[in-house]
Amino acid sequence: TTSMFRALSWTLRGLHCSSIPLSTRMFSERADKSRSLADKVAVITGSTKGIGFAIARHLAQNGAHVVICSRKQWNVDQAVTTLQKEGLSVTGTVCHVGKAEDRDRLVAKALEHHNGIDFLVCVAGVNPLVGSTLGASEQVWDKILGVNVKAPALLLSQLLPHMENRGGGSVVLVSSVAAYMPISKLGVYNTSKTALLGLCKSLAMELAPKGIRVNSIVPGLIKTDFIQMEKTLPYSLSDLNKVYGLQRLGEPEDCAGIVSFLCSSDASYITGENITVAGYSPKL
Ligand SMILES: NC(=O)c1ccc[n+]([C@@H]2O[C@H](COP(=O)([O-])OP(=O)(O)OC[C@H]3O[C@@H](n4cnc5c(N)ncnc54)[C@H](OP(=O)(O)O)[C@@H]3O)[C@@H](O)[C@H]2O)c1
Repeated sequence: TTSMFRALSWTLRGLHCSSIPLSTRMFSERADKSRSLADKVAVITGSTKGIGFAIARHLAQNGAHVVICSRKQWNVDQAVTTLQKEGLSVTGTVCHVGKAEDRDRLVAKALEHHNGIDFLVCVAGVNPLVGSTLGASEQVWDKILGVNVKAPALLLSQLLPHMENRGGGSVVLVSSVAAYMPISKLGVYNTSKTALLGLCKSLAMELAPKGIRVNSIVPGLIKTDFIQMEKTLPYSLSDLNKVYGLQRLGEPEDCAGIVSFLCSSDASYITGENITVAGYSPKL
């Protein structure tokens, strides 16, 4: 059933510095400060692969210190190493977002080297069921709603004091076009992604007085391990693209720039917004 929706520094920069001429170094330090997310700290869940990994890389390239996580240590190690080798400021830890003790560890990791947190990007999401909505067991409901909907809210509640210390922040949730146009046999998942849009609205209203903005992105079909979907979609992907799409599947990188923008001060008056990244938008 999991078959269809199965479901990285300063150190390196520092090491290289001595071999770089002073003038170049001064220039690049100035350039660093001018990057849109310089000196900001970002926590990104579900970020060792796919959409989360692309977002982690992009935020770090724009100057943020990024803390990544996922369930498997090996995935975390690989992703941290890859991004650090690119000279990016990235650390990571194991965190299954559905587990309270793991969320505690993630918050502690983020605070290890920094005295606050500016951004939270909640990418982790699961779909263990392909089948009838009413046939879903209570366990399946608990898992999908727990990881996809409850976990972002609970993690944010843990991070909130550290965002408030910084005088504000930005949160980005990752929904899905399945929230607007349900995909057959994915009823529980569709429902969880619609719930996220509601969570985005409620949190945006609740946190606005604290200067914390909450937005979501709504990806379409993005080429990652998460999708092997053509078999179970109720229509052919190529047919759909002929009518609506930009004639291709999305790449994880397609989701990254918009998240960076939503975190940056360029988006300072945008909150409670859902932005479709799907080659076409079904939303009015
Ligand atoms: N791909 C699409 O077409 C598409 C479309 C719309 C929305 N989305 C949404 O985008 C998000 C990411 O999807 P993706 O396509 O990038 O998937 P992906 O390539 O399979 O990557 C999923 C990432 O999340 C981690 N992860 C899974 N469960 C987790 C958990 N409970 N706690 C923490 N980390 C966890 C995985 O690593 P570990 O295995 O090590 O945990 C991995 O790093 C999901 O919320 C999905 O619903 C995807």
